[in-house]
Amino acid sequence: MKNVTVIAHPLVRHNLTRLRDERTQPQEFRRLLGEIAALMTYEATRSLGVKKVAVRTPMEKTAGYQLEREVVLVPVLRAGLGMHNGILELIPHARVGFLGLKREEATLRAHFYHKSLPKKLDRCEVILIDPMLATGGSAVAALDFLREQGAKRIRLVSLVAAPEGIRHVRAHYPALPIFTAAIDRQLNERGYILPGLGDAGDRLFGT
Ligand code: PRP
Ligand code: URA
Repeated sequence: MKNVTVIAHPLVRHNLTRLRDERTQPQEFRRLLGEIAALMTYEATRSLGVKKVAVRTPMEKTAGYQLEREVVLVPVLRAGLGMHNGILELIPHARVGFLGLKREEATLRAHFYHKSLPKKLDRCEVILIDPMLATGGSAVAALDFLREQGAKRIRLVSLVAAPEGIRHVRAHYPALPIFTAAIDRQLNERGYILPGLGDAGDRLFGT
């Protein structure tokens, strides 16, 4: 699928399988989700722009690089919280915004309950983080809001994606880069990903 990168690194596959396992308890689930997010970050940030800078080593002056733009991480609450720490370990200078979205069980429509974003998003590279891309409603709501707030360069990191969710995001944002560890089979009648890993927020926080 265009602009969708499936990260099939062996360590990502290994961790994903442990996350899918129904026997994995919240403490282990949190650790694995943080680790897999860090592993996915290498691929998800590969295309970030860099600019040349001069640097003086203890020996002499040479040319080096620095990221061209500031990075902003935007985890979608709650489940995105489980991934953002792992990413922040690799990009510790990133700023962090939060979007609280809850999917209604009956309608599967996502509603905002919290929004807090850093300023000047138009100058930044924004990484939207949500482990589950199911119907895609939450992702599109988050993307619409980020665009409204001026974000121009956005990429989505989602651990597990359903084909339905990818199609929905694609219909609204055809060029948006999506990074995932797996494209699963389908959604069930309650909007859960099959085989998926269940309710990511509940498994993360033990609710
Ligand atoms: C889950 C998940 C995504 C959303 C995906 O969150 O973390 O945000 O569902 O579903 P969608 O693609 O169909 O919109 P949920 O609303 O259950 O909230 P939670 O993270 O607080 O559990
Ligand atoms: N949200 C989840 O946490 N899991 C799913 O499978 C779908 C939506």
